[in-house]
Amino acid sequence: MEESKLYGKQWASDYDETDGDVGDETTSTVDVLAELAAGGTVLELAAGTGRVAIPLANSGLKVTASDASEDMLAILKQKDVEHAVDTRVDVLPSVGAGDSFALICILLNSLWVMRSAEEQLEFMHNVARIVSPHGTFVVEMGVANPQKWIKPQTVSYRKAPAVRSTTWNPVTQQVTHTMRFEKDADTLFHERAVHLRVVTPNELLLMAKIAGLEVTALWQDWDRTEFSADSKRMIAVFKIVASA
Ligand SMILES: C[S@@+](CC[C@H](N)C(=O)[O-])C[C@H]1O[C@@H](n2cnc3c(N)ncnc32)[C@H](O)[C@@H]1O
Repeated sequence: MEESKLYGKQWASDYDETDGDVGDETTSTVDVLAELAAGGTVLELAAGTGRVAIPLANSGLKVTASDASEDMLAILKQKDVEHAVDTRVDVLPSVGAGDSFALICILLNSLWVMRSAEEQLEFMHNVARIVSPHGTFVVEMGVANPQKWIKPQTVSYRKAPAVRSTTWNPVTQQVTHTMRFEKDADTLFHERAVHLRVVTPNELLLMAKIAGLEVTALWQDWDRTEFSADSKRMIAVFKIVASA
């Protein structure tokens, strides 16, 4: 099976209780994104099960959620009782063509699902083509600390504790996390792997610049605390560079 679809096959059925459980943060995420959209159209890429897309659409915005996985989008549609979100399948780095959007976002490390720097750069160019002239692009990603990946860790998911082992390639920046869930846990797949390519903060800013995107804010959380050398996460807000 294609890697881009495998994630959804393995995670969709219990994603909201396991990998996608980010506690109460979603409310502040949605509030900030709604403000940045300023009433315009929104495209969320690799939107998963609609954690953000659904409340954003319920706030009155026109939201399109795209993902490579039909399985993830099927859960989104089940949860979207108001039928507020438009969904479509895009396999990144492709982001579709035609429509432009006032706000485009990719959240929770989803930029890392592309497995090479070349694909990630192509993605940034593709996004720059479909952000409307005064529009905004938002990336949320962690600041990876590969030291933490040396030893297997017990990861505490709300319903299904798992042991996570990781392989890290410092040359390609590719990382594979393999989760082994307890045998009696109520999960369809006892072993699941997530394949990513880490983007460092500096790389993100460089890729964006090459693609013609100008950074306008860097935060470490959705309360807009300024990003610093100690931050564990980067939320980067970009505008398209106005052509001369
Ligand atoms: C961490 S989950 C999404 C989380 C979601 N952005 C959120 O904030 O709740 C990563 C998503 O990326 C999707 N995905 C994986 N590879 C992809 C690709 N090449 N193109 C588009 N989506 C992909 C998966 O199906 C999954 O829904």
